[in-house]
Amino acid sequence: MHPMLNTAVKAARRAGTVINRATFDLDRIKVTEKGQNDFVTEVDKAAEQAVIDVLKTAYPDHAFLAEETGASANMHDQHENVWIIDPIDGTTNFIHGFPQYCVSIALQQRGQITQAVVYDPTRNDLFTATKGAGAYLNEKRIRVSRRDKMADSLIGTGFPFRDNDQLDEYLKMFRIMTERCAGLRRPGAAALDLAYVACGRLDGFFEKGLHPWDMAAGSLLITEAGGIVGTFAGESDYLYNGQVLAGSPKIFAQMVQLLSPFAK
Ligand code: IPD
Repeated sequence: MHPMLNTAVKAARRAGTVINRATFDLDRIKVTEKGQNDFVTEVDKAAEQAVIDVLKTAYPDHAFLAEETGASANMHDQHENVWIIDPIDGTTNFIHGFPQYCVSIALQQRGQITQAVVYDPTRNDLFTATKGAGAYLNEKRIRVSRRDKMADSLIGTGFPFRDNDQLDEYLKMFRIMTERCAGLRRPGAAALDLAYVACGRLDGFFEKGLHPWDMAAGSLLITEAGGIVGTFAGESDYLYNGQVLAGSPKIFAQMVQLLSPFAK
């Protein structure tokens, strides 16, 4: 394993320990609302600190873009090394004890994601990828699904939840996708949904209104597993654009056809 990936795995497992310990007494966790329906807990903060502590000890000069503490540097500069971190992707699920959330850590080097870890502490599922060296689930090589027809595909999505203004547009996409695919799922943790596309548990995924820390690690898992990630228009500038569409090459192309009118 690449030494930088190894450090990221250590950081993700450290955060997983913080998270799993907290699940024994969910009722005692303090929850604050960052924005409408957008929650943060003291566990998100402690898990983020655990990740940053491990990474900073190993790489004191690297920059950070983390969900709870923000950016340690101007992200528009092409930094040599930026760690992009979501300590708990799926905080709402976590608060409710709904076991679908993860730690997401990616390394961006001069604008390119080169290392990725998505760790599901509820199942002890560890997804990893290094650019050019493939994607793995618990050290076994993974590939995107081989399904090539939308009608057979299980598609993941995320609903708009902060901003109800987006709901009408979303309902149009919901109808189109529901009519075309075998099933639509909203598991509630985008980084894990992307990891599921990488290992073929989902055939595709789409969501708008995401942050880079929801997408960075999952996107490398998918490309290293033979899939494609882009905007709804099929373009490559999704990471700071908020919208993501992903799938195996054939499903990706069909989803772009259906959803590109919503690319805006
Ligand atoms: C959220 C989850 C959710 C998605 C949201 C994200 P958070 O992440 O990934 O599935 O629909 O857009 O913000 O806020 O729980 O880290």
